[in-house]
Amino acid sequence: MVDWMADYLRDIRKYPVLPNVQPGALIDALPAHGPESGQPMDAIMADFEKLVLPGLTHWNHPRFHSYFSISASGPGILGEMLAATLNIQHMLWKASPASTELEQVTLGWLREWWGLDPRFFGIIHDTASTASMHAILAAREQAAPQARLSGEHPRLILYRSEHTHNSVDKGALTVGIGKENIRKIAADDEFRMIPQLLERAIRDDLAAGNKPFCVVATLGTTSSSSIDPLPAIGQIAEKYGLWLHVDAAYGGPAALLEEYRYILDGSSRADSIVVNPHKWLFTPVDLSILYTRRPEILRRALSLDETPAYLVTAQHDRALNFSEYALPLGRRFRSLKLWFILRYYGREGIARILREHIRMARMLAEEIGRDERFELAAPVPFSLVCFRYRGSDEENQKLFEQINATGKAFLSSTVLHGKFVLRFAIGNIATTEQDIRETWALIQGMVPAVQRSA
Ligand SMILES: Cc1ncc(COP(=O)(O)O)c(C=O)c1O
Repeated sequence: MVDWMADYLRDIRKYPVLPNVQPGALIDALPAHGPESGQPMDAIMADFEKLVLPGLTHWNHPRFHSYFSISASGPGILGEMLAATLNIQHMLWKASPASTELEQVTLGWLREWWGLDPRFFGIIHDTASTASMHAILAAREQAAPQARLSGEHPRLILYRSEHTHNSVDKGALTVGIGKENIRKIAADDEFRMIPQLLERAIRDDLAAGNKPFCVVATLGTTSSSSIDPLPAIGQIAEKYGLWLHVDAAYGGPAALLEEYRYILDGSSRADSIVVNPHKWLFTPVDLSILYTRRPEILRRALSLDETPAYLVTAQHDRALNFSEYALPLGRRFRSLKLWFILRYYGREGIARILREHIRMARMLAEEIGRDERFELAAPVPFSLVCFRYRGSDEENQKLFEQINATGKAFLSSTVLHGKFVLRFAIGNIATTEQDIRETWALIQGMVPAVQRSA
C-alpha cells in the first residue's frame, strides 16, 4: 500500500486532473448490497484501481488550480497514517495526554510564527466552517448569555462583506441567528469590505432597536483572495462592542512571511481567527485551527449544568479537556500530521514554498497582462490569479469548460463585477513554473476555437 502511495505521488501527472465520468457511474458499477463474507484486500484494491480511481478528481495533482489548490505533503501523509494506526480520540486530557498536549504545542508554534498575541487559545477543528460556527456561537454567548438558558435572545445582527465565504452564514443559521439578521456589507473596487458602510449599517440597526453582535473580516476571500481592512474593522468592532471573527482560512499561512505580516495588523483586537492548514500549509484534509482570545466564553457557551458521570475527570490546571470547547466530543489526533509537517519543513522551508507559489502567481499575472486578448479581473495579493478573456461571458464559460475537459488542468470560476471570471489557484507543493507556463499556453491556444464557436 505504501508503495502504491509513493508511485501515485511520483506518477501523478499521468492522471487527468478531472475525471470524465457521468453522474451515477460508480453507483452503477458497484454491487447494490454489501458482501455477506469478507473479501481479500487484493480484490478490494483491484476494484479501487479499476472502478474508483478513474472517477476521482486529483486534488493532489500539481495542475489542480481549482477552488484553492492544496497539498498532502509526504510528512503530512505519514502523520495521517500513523494517526489512523493509533486511532486516538482525545476528548479529555485523560483520554490521551500526549495527543492533547501536541495539539497545544503545534498551535503554540504556529501562533508564534504568525506573530499572534500569545493569549490566543488554539483548538483544531475539521473545517473552517465548523471553526467559524463555534466563533459565532461564542459571539452569541458574549452578546446574549440568556440564549443558552432559554433559547431566546434579542434580534442579534451579524455583519460580513458581500465576499465572505458562505460558511459564515451557515454557522450563523446553525446557532439560531436567522438569515434576515445577516448583513452583507458592500465591498470596494478591489473586493474589500468598506468600513464606513459597516459602521453605517451598525448605526441603522441600533436605531432600529436591533443588537449588533458580530463582524467577520476575511484575509483572502474565496472569489478573489481580497484582504478586508482588519485595523479599521477592528476599531469599529471595538467601538460598538462586537465580536470580531477573522476568516484567514486561505490567506492566514502567508502571515509567517515577513512581507505578509501586515495582513494580521489589527489581529490583537480580534476575538477569534480561523486558519486552514489543509488549504495552504501542505496538510492532508482535514485540519482547521480556531484561535480565540476568549476561550472561557466559548466554553461557557457549550457548558451544561452537570457533567455526566462518564465524563467526570480529575481537574488539573495543566490538563486541558478540549471537548469542553467544541461541539464534538470525539477528537481525531490531527496535530500529529501538523507536527510532522512543521518539523520536517521548519519555518524557513514553509516560507520558501509559499514564496514560490506567490512568485509563480505574479509571473502568471504578468503573462496575462502581456496578452491583450486577456485581462486580470482582480489584484493578486496571494497565489490566486483571477482573469478573463476579453470577450463575452459565454466565450469565457466555453474557454473554462474546454480547459477542464482536457484533463490537463483544472480551473474554477467565479463572478466579479458581474462578469464570469476564471480562477487559477496555485498552492500545491509539486507545482512548478513549467506547469504554470504549459497550462497558460494551453489556455492561450484555445482562444481561436472559442472565438469560432461563439
Ligand atoms: C475564505 C474561506 N473561508 C472558509 C472556507 C470553508 O473552508 P472549509 O472547507 O474548511 O469549511 C473556505 C473554503 O474554501 C474559504 O475559502
